[in-house]
Amino acid sequence: MEKTLVIIKPDGIERGLMGEIISRYENKGFKITDCKMIKADREILEKHYAEHREKSFYGELISYMTRGKVLVMIIEGNNVIEIIRKMHGKTNPLDAEMGTIRGDFANSATENVVHASDSKESAEREISIWFS
Ligand code: CMP
Repeated sequence: MEKTLVIIKPDGIERGLMGEIISRYENKGFKITDCKMIKADREILEKHYAEHREKSFYGELISYMTRGKVLVMIIEGNNVIEIIRKMHGKTNPLDAEMGTIRGDFANSATENVVHASDSKESAEREISIWFS
């Protein structure tokens, strides 16, 4: 069964959106097979976001992701990687369609409520970082 790594980010937790977001995955028929709520440290985020290290928004991204707790989940199901990416919507809030999680709940490219792996390789890599 395909697996992906999903994170509900600090703004999602602060705004009390956890239940709503988890319901969307469960209503779609996906199973949350592992999860933990933690305050992520810089070290784990540097591994997770290694590909963005040179980007202009990297500093802002790390301080946002370390400002409060995150909920990290492994979610399983048929085509779960691609379907959850669709459920999340585009990163740019102007492009995220209404009905997606970002379309409904985000108005910023950085503070965008959720993260999900974008391929099988990323899912394997991210699951090993967060659930080693
Ligand atoms: P995520 O899916 O976790 O992957 C990288 C993160 O960087 C992204 O969600 C946003 O939180 C952030 N991000 C991506 N693009 C931008 C951008 N143009 N400006 C600011 N933050 C961004």
